[in-house]
Amino acid sequence: MNDLERANKYQEENRIDLCGKPVFHVTPPVGWMNDPNGFSVFQGTIHLFYQYHPYRDSWGPMHWGHCISKDFVKWKELPVALAPDMDYDAAGCFSGSAIETEKGHALLYTGVMEKEREDGTIEVVQQQCLAIGDGIYYKKVSGNPVITAGQLPKGFSTQDFRDPKVWRERDTYYLAVGNKNEKQNGQVVLFESGDLEEWRYLSVLADNQGKYGKMWECPDFFPLGQKHILVVSPQDMQADGAEFHNGNQSAALIGEYDRKQYRLLEEQVVSLDYGTDFYAPQTLETEDGRRIMIAWMQSWDMNIKPAEQKWNGMMTIPRQLTLRNNQLYQQPVKELEHYRTEPVIYTDKEICGKCQLPELRGRVLDLTMELQEGDYQEFTVSFAVNEKYHTSFRYICATQTIEFDRTYSGMERDAVCRRSMKIKKTEKTLKLRFLLDRFSVELFVNDGIQTFTSTFYTPLGAEDIILECDKKAVISIEKYTISLDENGKEGDQFEKI
Ligand code: FRU
Repeated sequence: MNDLERANKYQEENRIDLCGKPVFHVTPPVGWMNDPNGFSVFQGTIHLFYQYHPYRDSWGPMHWGHCISKDFVKWKELPVALAPDMDYDAAGCFSGSAIETEKGHALLYTGVMEKEREDGTIEVVQQQCLAIGDGIYYKKVSGNPVITAGQLPKGFSTQDFRDPKVWRERDTYYLAVGNKNEKQNGQVVLFESGDLEEWRYLSVLADNQGKYGKMWECPDFFPLGQKHILVVSPQDMQADGAEFHNGNQSAALIGEYDRKQYRLLEEQVVSLDYGTDFYAPQTLETEDGRRIMIAWMQSWDMNIKPAEQKWNGMMTIPRQLTLRNNQLYQQPVKELEHYRTEPVIYTDKEICGKCQLPELRGRVLDLTMELQEGDYQEFTVSFAVNEKYHTSFRYICATQTIEFDRTYSGMERDAVCRRSMKIKKTEKTLKLRFLLDRFSVELFVNDGIQTFTSTFYTPLGAEDIILECDKKAVISIEKYTISLDENGKEGDQFEKI
């Protein structure tokens, strides 16, 4: 049995029961998941691959797991697509992307190998590889690696050269790859090809100029509105005002694309999410021209899941990106609205003190609150509440901040529990849309001009929602249960094929 067959057999025999898993967020069938990979449309179907180690609930030799969807919400599990079974990827099939071609569905990924030097130390080499398939089965091409470490200009890191993002403009394919320069600073390098097999180095598309962390992982580059956006996930960031926190996170560089120099002329850099669990996002363009982004909903530094839970890692809800007045907005894909059931509406409800509304509870929901201005100082909403647990968002008027707190979510590890977000744009009302799916919350502020994504593994019995205000606040609430099951019950995320 080869490595891919072994991974598939293991997945078949050890698949984790769906009840108790998130309902509408992708999770691994068993074991560990990190970055989204190969997020693409092929023959009219949405494909999502992901960094996958089925054999344990922690990171290990990377495979590509695979699932498909027609609407970004309901996913179908497919066989594992790639296993680290060649000399050039023996240490892992790292992140990458996919594209529909005349030859089939092409996956571009990073093959990692470890070579022993003469002195016995290990040299890591990362190179770009190609596999082509029919949407289910993929074959690595004989010419791999299609971009060798030797094709990089002198001084560029061959050890940190990963996560290719492919796109096509007329007859030319382009590939943006994460890299480090001689000063150990993050950069994105660009290549071009006519056939995906022979690549030519073009340029440094952008670099971090000593800011925004060190290695830039998982680049993505695309036009949006009148601008171009380069998404990067820098490692080793240092906190910067209210915009960036310490550690790994994801940023969008917004600017003009200078096609002569193959260089992004950056105009602004913004954080893509202010929560504790959002990394390595990747986008695709739908057939109707929408730019949709999905990210890994976990942090490299904080593994807070309960020890007995045998799956580890989730994806965010896919989000539509738009650029309005030079501001980047994220909204959950509109397809999610098809799965809304059991509407609960409160209009201009007065909240004063601690308050529990009779129909406001649950752990799988799409909940929008519009909060009018008032004399109050603080307004708090707490989720996943029972006598022991709660996780809350507190809006503080004086500082225009929202503070998240998961201290009492049932966590057994000493991880970051509190984080605040400075609200960017003040309007008359504050609009907060929360997506809850058992162990996560994604908050979209004021139509998605800012988002805040975090996980919490509170036992499922805690499902109350409590509102609290120091004085009178007037709010309107629209709440839906999200149900993937036609009968109105919370349904299964994956159907077996
Ligand atoms: C980002 C990352 C990528 C790499 C992958 C390995 O989270 O470190 O740079 O390809 O994960 O699993």
